[in-house]
Amino acid sequence: MARVAIVTGGTRGIGEAISLALQAEGVTVAANYAGNDERANAFSDRTGIAVFKWDVSSHEACIAGVAEVERVLGPIDIVVNNAGITRDGTLLKMSYDDWKAVIDTNLGGCFNMAKATFAGMKERKFGRFVNIGSINGQAGQYGQVNYAAAKSGIHGFTKALAQEGARFGITVNAIAPGYIDTDMVAAVPSEVLQKIVAKIPVGRLGQAHEIARGVTFLCSEEGAFVTGSTLSINGGQHMY
Ligand code: CAA
Repeated sequence: MARVAIVTGGTRGIGEAISLALQAEGVTVAANYAGNDERANAFSDRTGIAVFKWDVSSHEACIAGVAEVERVLGPIDIVVNNAGITRDGTLLKMSYDDWKAVIDTNLGGCFNMAKATFAGMKERKFGRFVNIGSINGQAGQYGQVNYAAAKSGIHGFTKALAQEGARFGITVNAIAPGYIDTDMVAAVPSEVLQKIVAKIPVGRLGQAHEIARGVTFLCSEEGAFVTGSTLSINGGQHMY
């Protein structure tokens, strides 16, 4: 039977590419989204991928959302924690709300989704988590103490949960994208973005499908021996 995946923030940007790539591998995909119903429904009509609305920063909403996906599509085998937001600003200008929203969504969402799905995977002896981190969680970024902390937290979360999942056939990995051609990156002021792109050895922004390719590998049956790792896909911008 086909594996079932949830991709959070799965209807646009990197998440859309991941949903489509998993679908192309024969996986039954549930694309979670938090915002625009019209756009999510258009995505569903276009792709045939089922969409489910909830806010990943809410623990209760994740528990209820996963239960609904399981009722419609069956037990969850794969979780791609992709949902993420930015509220950029230097520390002096950043409000507590900007801090909390980013931590609760980007990092809290990973915890909430794992709590909702890990026990079932353990019981069935198969699971795949792919958590979307960031180059800015590895290297830091001016104006992003919230985002860098959340993404860096994702990398630690990944390594800890990988140790807990290993004996149950559950792998937990992270991907650390660099600057990818999405709405999120397009929101960076153009003069700032130009300077960032100038520092990418490959000389361009990444494409969402280049991240999705990494996700399908990590979610595959052949990926069983890869766990606790971080795959950097960043055009050479940060190497370590
Ligand atoms: N290092 C050192 N100094 C810097 C700097 C840097 N990287 N960037 C800016 N500064 C300096 C500026 O030169 C300026 O100094 P002066 O006043 O002496 O000229 C000072 O800091 C203030 O800079 P700004 O005018 O840019 O300040 P601002 O408050 O208007 O904007 C900001 C700050 C919102 C953080 C803006 O710089 C910005 O948007 N930066 C981009 C942040 C970024 O890369 N976000 C990534 C979003 S996409 C993403 O996160 C996806 C992913 O995973 C990769």
